[in-house]
Amino acid sequence: MLSIKIQAWQDGVNMEIGDNVRIYKCKISAEGRSKNNHLIICNGADVQNTNFSYFGSNSTIRLGEYVKINAGAKTKTSLQVGSNTTLHIGKGSLLSNSIIICTTDFHPVINEEGMRLNPDKDIFVGENVWIGRNAYIGKGATILSQSIVGAFSVVTKSFSQENILIAGNPARVRKEKISWTR
Ligand SMILES: CC(C)(COP(=O)(O)OP(=O)(O)OC[C@H]1O[C@@H](n2cnc3c(N)ncnc32)[C@H](O)[C@@H]1OP(=O)(O)O)[C@@H](O)C(=O)NCCC(=O)NCCS
Repeated sequence: MLSIKIQAWQDGVNMEIGDNVRIYKCKISAEGRSKNNHLIICNGADVQNTNFSYFGSNSTIRLGEYVKINAGAKTKTSLQVGSNTTLHIGKGSLLSNSIIICTTDFHPVINEEGMRLNPDKDIFVGENVWIGRNAYIGKGATILSQSIVGAFSVVTKSFSQENILIAGNPARVRKEKISWTR
């Protein structure tokens, strides 16, 4: 099933959609002069009420096989990318409502020398990661396989272990050697 609203200017977004994919009430938007952006949704993914937003160029949002995004009509989840970044969600991961995952801060933070301190960075979510409702995952974050991100958590950095529960603001490791089931 495909139900997508597309808002794009210039080059738009190149889409690769796998087999047996369900996309329901999703929106894809690419702003301004953006170009060369990609959306890849692999086989068996099931995505609803999700916004895919491209705020720059040369970026990719990739959902692995069997990723499920189970957001509601009034509690949409948003996947957002800036320039030259990849936002990867690994196979079998489960995302809840009102999540924001974003590879850019939008506005530059600049030091005395005029150098940007907060460049856009990739985000990597491994396989079978469960992301609880209202989580915010920012630029440069890595969350490895079989992990859980607690509800309302703010993830601002990379975690190097698999099978962990991270939670809080800023998110930190709360439990190790855990797993979860759907
Ligand atoms: C993470 C979660 C699953 C609980 O797992 P759990 O194994 O029962 O974890 P616990 O409640 O024992 O918490 C362990 C520690 O993490 C903390 N913690 C757990 N969830 C947290 C959260 N979302 N934010 C901040 N801290 C959290 C607990 O306070 C506890 O801290 P302590 O060790 O200092 O006492 C649950 O809190 C959660 O966030 N669920 C998400 C639910 C959701 O979004 N469902 C949507 C449907 S997909």
